[in-house]
Amino acid sequence: MKQYFIFSILIIQILFSCSPNQKNENNESLAHVETIKDQHTRANIEEIRTTHLHLELDINFENKIIYGVARHQMSENNIDHAIFDIKGLEIIKTTVGEKEETAADFTISDDDELLGAALTVKIEPGTQFINIYYQTTENSEALDWLPAELTEGKVHPYLYTQGQAILTRSWIPLQDSPMNRITYSADITVPSELIAVMSADNPTEKNDEGKYHFMMKQKIPSYLIALAVGDLVYTSLGENCGIYSEKELEDACAYEFGDLPKMISAAEGLYGEYLWDQYDIVMLPYSFPFGGMENPRLTFANPTILAGDRSSTSVVAHELAHSWSGNLVTNATWDDFWLNEGFTVYFENRIMEEIYGKETADILATIEYQDLTASITDIGQSEFPEDTRLKLELNDRNPDEGMTDIAYVKGAFFLRTIEQSVGREKHDSFLSQYFQDHAFQSITTEIFVEDLKNKLLDPNAISFNIDEWIYQEGLPENHLKIKSQRLEKMVAIAEKSKTGKDIFSSDFKDAERNDFITQEWLTFFRTLSPETSIATMTQLDAQFKFSSDANAIVKSDWFKLSAQTHYREQSPEMQKYLIKIGRRWLIEGIYQILMDSDDAQDHHFARETFEKAKNGYHFVSRSTIEGIVKK
Ligand code: BES
Ligand code: ZN
Repeated sequence: MKQYFIFSILIIQILFSCSPNQKNENNESLAHVETIKDQHTRANIEEIRTTHLHLELDINFENKIIYGVARHQMSENNIDHAIFDIKGLEIIKTTVGEKEETAADFTISDDDELLGAALTVKIEPGTQFINIYYQTTENSEALDWLPAELTEGKVHPYLYTQGQAILTRSWIPLQDSPMNRITYSADITVPSELIAVMSADNPTEKNDEGKYHFMMKQKIPSYLIALAVGDLVYTSLGENCGIYSEKELEDACAYEFGDLPKMISAAEGLYGEYLWDQYDIVMLPYSFPFGGMENPRLTFANPTILAGDRSSTSVVAHELAHSWSGNLVTNATWDDFWLNEGFTVYFENRIMEEIYGKETADILATIEYQDLTASITDIGQSEFPEDTRLKLELNDRNPDEGMTDIAYVKGAFFLRTIEQSVGREKHDSFLSQYFQDHAFQSITTEIFVEDLKNKLLDPNAISFNIDEWIYQEGLPENHLKIKSQRLEKMVAIAEKSKTGKDIFSSDFKDAERNDFITQEWLTFFRTLSPETSIATMTQLDAQFKFSSDANAIVKSDWFKLSAQTHYREQSPEMQKYLIKIGRRWLIEGIYQILMDSDDAQDHHFARETFEKAKNGYHFVSRSTIEGIVKK
């Protein structure tokens, strides 16, 4: 409470940074003083800010340590100390100066379990360059050091970082707030058998020295600084796009992402030029905690999206869309997270519609809607029912807790509902203008709302329940309703089965797994009740082989249903899946159902599986799953 009070009296000016070559009609309204504070940083960004960061890092796989120096170029200032965020880092020394360095004193505060510590460097007012010499530790939560066994090639180790939301501070000492935007450069040294790639301009070939130089010339928030090191090859997929992967996955990637050039054109056609020059993807190991992460110029991806039939490409559409929503226009604080994800889910669906048609787009949106209604119920009954508001209040909480279907799907439905009431043409030109006006800025929900009123709703004399959507709980009544006949058919089959009818001799007579797409199966599983008999489960598995399906999403929902129905036959398959895959959204639901079960054997199975799996999970998934199984 006390801490909250101190935070809330801190009034901070955000000086919005504009791209130098971006004409900005909003300068006036943006120059105004905002009285907001990013609760998730300990840095004094209201007094002094990094403008450019240069990293010199040595990646040591033997010790699993990164050694190096972070050289910060600072904004004009009149202050005698600069505070940086650090978490799980060992600070060796701090200096000031560019060519000639002189030692500077530093202190490290108490360690907050969530935010880490404040590293305060004493400086002369006006100091331009601050250098922090440091090394990472085993508590550097962003880092996933994988032994060779957990890679495809099984010969070389792999390392990747995951910064979002507040983990960049665990591998780089910096001001870890999305409110501040910086350019960065890096000199990275790796073992010569490996190549390093970053969210910057990238090499396409290894060199003998293992030394790589990087530059990100556009201003980005700190959570988008990212590094991956592995035995990777580059495959070009078009003029300005391609994929880094281990060579074992090269062909699979080239096929799966074959539509990438089309997606980029579709996205540009919708909301304006792609401003990051190059769009590549790096295929990480299965432990990566997300399906995809929108690191600029280089999306990080989980191999579970390699379904073999391009059925998971919406993840790529999503990460690509972030090149506008999120990376170009960024949430100023994690309470505004829906500005990143809600816009992106909306945009992702528009890209999918352009390329695969309205029926596909509606199927995807219907699945999202199913997820959303389930989440609203869950969150409504949880400790934090207020989390069903778009604008969050995550004081003293992990911003990770805002990563729910509210930001993603309620956010997208908000935009879809506005689109429905103003018409697509006006909505699209408003969004294009929004991306242009706020390019390379970090903005709040309130700035978006002002824009929405002034530039779209008022000029068209449309009234809209904005406040209800953003500041109230639940889903407003006027939300857009989407229907999909194909999914309704699956609901009907599942309902029939629930009333005891034999679906195998009618609807599923001679049916094969691939007669239905992923989303049809998800709908079918979700409609089947937890009381489905073992006999039915066995018959479904015999006919469609779900327990060994090639699609990781289908398997995730199938294993959830298996856990609910105590269909234990395939628990070896379920366990194999949970050990192999670290993508959080695919595994946490299965663990949760097992732990919610009234059968103690299920708890035992969940705990035993986690013990076997945990070393293969990234910190992000390990801590979430630990929270589930330790309860
Ligand atoms: N930026 C997110 C992942 C993220 C969010 C990481 C919050 C850390 C904190 C990424 O764009 C994302 O949403 N990934 C989804 C993709 C899906 C919605 C298509 C995922 O990983 O499943
Ligand atoms: Zn996203």
